[in-house]
Amino acid sequence: MKGLLPDLDLVRKDFPILERTFDGGETPLVYLDSANTSQKPQIVIDTMVDHLERHNANIARAMHHLGAEATEAFEGARDTVARFLGAPERDEVIFTKNASEALNLVANTVPLAAGDVVVTTEMEHHSNIVPWQLATQRAGATLKWFGLTDSGELDLSNIDELITPATKIVALTWVSNMLGTVNPIAEIARKAHEVGALVVVDAAQAAPVLPIDLAGMAEEERPDFLAFTGHKVVGPTGIGVLWGRRAALEALPPFLGGGEMIATVTMEKSTYAPIPHKFEAGTPPIAEAVGLGAALEYLMHLGMENVHAHEQAITAYALERLATVPGVTVLG
Ligand SMILES: Cc1ncc(COP(=O)(O)O)c(C=O)c1O
Repeated sequence: MKGLLPDLDLVRKDFPILERTFDGGETPLVYLDSANTSQKPQIVIDTMVDHLERHNANIARAMHHLGAEATEAFEGARDTVARFLGAPERDEVIFTKNASEALNLVANTVPLAAGDVVVTTEMEHHSNIVPWQLATQRAGATLKWFGLTDSGELDLSNIDELITPATKIVALTWVSNMLGTVNPIAEIARKAHEVGALVVVDAAQAAPVLPIDLAGMAEEERPDFLAFTGHKVVGPTGIGVLWGRRAALEALPPFLGGGEMIATVTMEKSTYAPIPHKFEAGTPPIAEAVGLGAALEYLMHLGMENVHAHEQAITAYALERLATVPGVTVLG
């Protein structure tokens, strides 16, 4: 098989769980559920343990040495996420608890009115369907859908009927969790931007396998918001990311209220902190963010181009072998 990671055995050794065996040592663990949640390399586990053992404190509000260390580690993780995404600015990176919360953040704050249209697709995860159903119901707006072709791709034949001046949001997945399809997000974003719609990309399945370079995308092809989740990129659970263009994030009202997201509070009213803190109410998942930073450093060390080539090679191998099994129909 071509395209495999150069030192696959070394990479396997980074993941302690892969040393487990079952049936009294007879059967080595083979894990094929990474799209659901990925296993964790030792460096992620060690980084989180080290953080909790040696640097634990609340961030931003603790005026002591450990507080400064914890804040530096947390904000350092934000820098790492920004580098991983090729984000134009590190303050455009918002920590959430998972991809679902990141998508809900946008769906709950973006202004929608009666008569507006939100467009999504028939290959979305529930996390990118239900928030838009709720948002359109609240606003009296309409939810429309791109359908699928027989080969499991988006059917773009009616794109001009779906994306019109009434369309305010186009929310779609980059890589489908259902079919593995990689969607042409640049082409769709270009079309959406022509009518002034905002583009929300669910990158929960893209971030683990595709190199992402937001700053390198053409302005009109770059999404306005992009969400992913930590536990699928060899990071911990309990942490996710919403990236948004600065102007798009600044235009949104806060999602959750609480500590850290305010500038001033009086009994009459509050003013809000600048992004990213405006969207990070309360004590965030600190050790989880630090763990996510270690996970993304690990993936960047492997090289996302190499990860992508490896994923392509093992998928091709799986398809080739499945084709030899009588009675198997491959969907997607
Ligand atoms: C495409 C896609 N979007 C969103 C999610 C939701 O991720 P989380 O449950 O971490 O919020 C998943 C998880 O399976 C997914 O595959």
